[in-house]
Amino acid sequence: WGPTGHRVIGKIATENISGRTKRIIAGLLDNESLAAASTFADEIKADTRYKMFYPWHYVNFEPGQQYNPEKRPTEGDLIFGINKCIDVLKNKNSKREDKVFYLKMLIHFIGDLHQPLHVGKAEDQGGNLIKLHWFKEDSNLHKVWDIDMIEQYNMSYTELADELISGTPKDKIKNYRQGHIMDWVYESKNLAGKVYASVNDNDHISYSYQYEYFPVVKDQLIKGGVRLAKILDEIFG
Ligand code: ADE
Ligand code: ZN
Ligand code: ZN
Repeated sequence: WGPTGHRVIGKIATENISGRTKRIIAGLLDNESLAAASTFADEIKADTRYKMFYPWHYVNFEPGQQYNPEKRPTEGDLIFGINKCIDVLKNKNSKREDKVFYLKMLIHFIGDLHQPLHVGKAEDQGGNLIKLHWFKEDSNLHKVWDIDMIEQYNMSYTELADELISGTPKDKIKNYRQGHIMDWVYESKNLAGKVYASVNDNDHISYSYQYEYFPVVKDQLIKGGVRLAKILDEIFG
């Protein structure tokens, strides 16, 4: 996701964590919000000292196949990254500065896990190589899902988060909180299959694509927020 998607997920998580978790996180983040911390992992990409974390934003494997940790790239992937963050945060011997760093990374990575194309195919770089025309602009399938549809909706992250929170029934939220990391990986993988099938290279897409697929984006954003809250409650609870 772009900044708006990540911030929406951070804000939704804030509304779904326990008081205890909220206090511990406020201490680690010096009262910075989860929404503000959610974009840190992208902001450090330009700094070559952090190059090693770039492959942790996504996990690619063949559709219809199980994820095989033994075939994982040596530099790691999204699943490796998430587990690393959780390990550091759960380890009572971790240094505070490491906890702060990996907490910010985790807030971002749980978001990325819910962008279907971050659980994509290596051959097209998660849809980045599938060129599209979005309204009058050149784009690509990955960017349409990270940014373009969310921009088209034309709301601030707080407005979108509030709309998603107030528009989602309690039982649905409870339902979304079920499962664990690998369940959510396969759910995203399954959605990625539909996303890949939704276009052909060089298609012109606009209103009807937004109408059909923005509800899926909204659903993934609320799931991301609720599940980030669950993971944080499990770590700090
Ligand atoms: N680069 C390679 N694969 C990618 C993916 N699935 N998402 C984002 N960037 C990528
Ligand atoms: Zn992306
Ligand atoms: Zn990312």
